[in-house]
Amino acid sequence: MMIPQTPFYYYDTALLQATLDAIHKEIAQYPNYHVHYALKANANPKLLHLIQQAGLGADCVSGGEVQAAIDAGFPADKIVYAGVGKSDREIQLALHHDIFCFNVESVPELQVINELASQENKVARVCLRINPDVEAHTHTHIITGMAENKFGIALKDMLYVVQLANELPHVSFEGLHFHIGSQITNMQDYVALCERVNEIQFLLNKHGIYPSVINVGGGLGIDYYAPQEHPIANFKAYFNVFEQHLHLRPNQSLHFELGRSIVAQCGSLITQVLYVKQTATKQFAIVDAGMTELIRPALYQAKHKILNITSLCDKTERYDVVGPICESSDVFDKDVLLPITQRGDIIAICSAGAYGESMASTYNCRSLPETFTDKEVESPF
Ligand code: LLP
Repeated sequence: MMIPQTPFYYYDTALLQATLDAIHKEIAQYPNYHVHYALKANANPKLLHLIQQAGLGADCVSGGEVQAAIDAGFPADKIVYAGVGKSDREIQLALHHDIFCFNVESVPELQVINELASQENKVARVCLRINPDVEAHTHTHIITGMAENKFGIALKDMLYVVQLANELPHVSFEGLHFHIGSQITNMQDYVALCERVNEIQFLLNKHGIYPSVINVGGGLGIDYYAPQEHPIANFKAYFNVFEQHLHLRPNQSLHFELGRSIVAQCGSLITQVLYVKQTATKQFAIVDAGMTELIRPALYQAKHKILNITSLCDKTERYDVVGPICESSDVFDKDVLLPITQRGDIIAICSAGAYGESMASTYNCRSLPETFTDKEVESPF
């Protein structure tokens, strides 16, 4: 088999397409549901193109992502822009493109958007990101919707901020935005979010406020342990929770911002074993990819299934699979059971399509990883 120089990301676009088809099949039942793809998970133009073609919108968190979405062909009226620290230049760029909506995270930001829109003689559509104080049962670094997190506007300030948005002449209040966290596999967390949104809507309606958009963010998790058995996330169960538990008002649209569940399983980091090193207590498989290509294990103790895709040996042994970076945390996983592994073997680190390439760095003067799709190279599997 001829494979490109390692390390590289391999994207199975056939799986991505099957995932997009599965989403389409589910939301076709709900004409007022709209999915925006969270570019932060992976902004590779080869993937963005397919996602845009499938009719999804774009959820961006920086001017760079807004530009990447525009460049990939996402229509401006399907682009939303969130983030606690939008700079003036980024806001101006989004105003210039006339994106659908800013997800506003604070009063000073609302005032700055109003001021910058007035300079352009525009009216910026805004959703207010409300911190719902709902706990997601996931890694502490990726929980966002608790009162102690930096994201969103506190529930107690919500009425006042909606009223302020209604008074400012250069913003128009469209609705509410929520996001409770990422890699959520317990649907009860979304039930809790729905119940909180129902309470909030009840309160707003009492005050004569009728949001036209409810955006429940993203966060649907994937199976990192058995990616081959579960290559496509359970979109049916996910959308069903909202259908069952969220009381939408007539003509209200429900927006979703999914990242990981769309792209995680279609990407693998392909790397080669440089050395197998024995010590008194351990056996290390030292590979040519490191935390520079995939930081998730080092940063969140995240698990990724690791496969030796070239060894033909039936006998297995345990290895710590580590990278070449000068950091003790540059470990993909410890005590991984692999077929007997040798210098030159090819290793696949699975489920790396989300927050892999997009979080890559050039630490240690390394190059950013190359990427190939199933349309460009033979599958390494
Ligand atoms: N919407 C908002 C407002 C978000 O903050 C995020 C993710 C998403 C949508 C998309 O969430 P997803 O569907 O991908 O779970 N780097 C971490 C994940 C950080 C997620 C940040 N926000 C990781 O590698 O696990």
